[in-house]
Amino acid sequence: MLTGALALSACGPGAKSQTVPADLPPLKTMAPFRIGTCVQALHLDDPALAGLVARQVSQLTPEWEMKMEYIVQPDGSFRFDAPDRIAAFARAHGMGLLGHTLVWYAQAPPAFQALDESRIKFVDAYRNYILAVAGRYRGQVVGWDVVNEAVAEDGNGWRDSLWSQKLGAFEHIALAYRTAREADPQAVLLLNDYNLEYNPRKRATFLKLAERLLSSGAPLTGLGTQMHVAADIEPSKIREMMRDLASLGLPIHVSELDISLSEAENKLLSRSDLQRRQAAVYGETAQAFMALPERQRFAFTLWGLRDRDSWLRKAHPTDAPAPFDDAGRPKLGAAALVEAFRG
Ligand code: G3I
Repeated sequence: MLTGALALSACGPGAKSQTVPADLPPLKTMAPFRIGTCVQALHLDDPALAGLVARQVSQLTPEWEMKMEYIVQPDGSFRFDAPDRIAAFARAHGMGLLGHTLVWYAQAPPAFQALDESRIKFVDAYRNYILAVAGRYRGQVVGWDVVNEAVAEDGNGWRDSLWSQKLGAFEHIALAYRTAREADPQAVLLLNDYNLEYNPRKRATFLKLAERLLSSGAPLTGLGTQMHVAADIEPSKIREMMRDLASLGLPIHVSELDISLSEAENKLLSRSDLQRRQAAVYGETAQAFMALPERQRFAFTLWGLRDRDSWLRKAHPTDAPAPFDDAGRPKLGAAALVEAFRG
């Protein structure tokens, strides 16, 4: 109860920011669903971080080494050393593995761009890639982000990419799900995107794409909402998004949650105001997820446990978006997550 009281008092309007007990229960012990984080292979060489990951989470998402940018070599060969290490770590610690991601508009390696189509049809190279990667981790992954960020930034249609140009705007997406299912009969096959809380138009287009995939018979079996948000986000936006995403009845993955201080729109808020808002938003997001029917709570993944490992630090060196600080100590956000998962 102390943790609960502390988390609540620390988030109150007049509360001073307070430290959080170092013995805060591990996140994965408090949630009735998998708690995840992204990792890189090099993180596993850091005993402090590897220990924090093992203690706190029950699912891993390779942050970049299961993507084409890592796997596909200039000569078209594939390398799997790093994703294999992450998969082995997950297996050794009894964790789920979330495959991220098979097809992304943002990554079209030179080997695909320069494909000699007199030797192999583009569609066969595309299928071969998905069959090879999803087949390699069959029985190890709990799910795949089969297609990542298919919807246009402004929500007006779908993104243009090498894949859509070569194989069709809708067909390249549907084919990816059919091929992933061919490779792995069990994995949950997710459609993943971002700004679904901030942009109702993008959310509507995302849901229409999901419905079209379902009606075409594509084996879409989950929806991922990345949730790269700012500390001053209006909590109602999170609740509205969760409600809309749940409307299809599919499992929902909060897939990449981080809560930036630096990207807050309200520049009048002090850092300690933003830290308190950040903790409240962690709590509100967890509560909105907890409110989903149990069968629709796929997993709740943080995009990094410690501030120092966040991708956001590249753009904002002083940002502190994670639930644990640079030293791996729990912040108010971690206490708010525990409080919300405690229900
Ligand atoms: O570690 C290598 C380093 O050894 C090498 O010298 C350097 C040279 O380029 O690359 C380093 O790897 C970089 C890696 O991040 C680790 O920092 C990759 O180039 C870089 O592309 C990679 O960026 C990742 C990005 O996706 C693109 O894959 C970020 O870590 C990762 O946080 C970001 O995650 C995305 C999700 O997949 C999709 N949703 C948005 C999210 C944030 O952009």
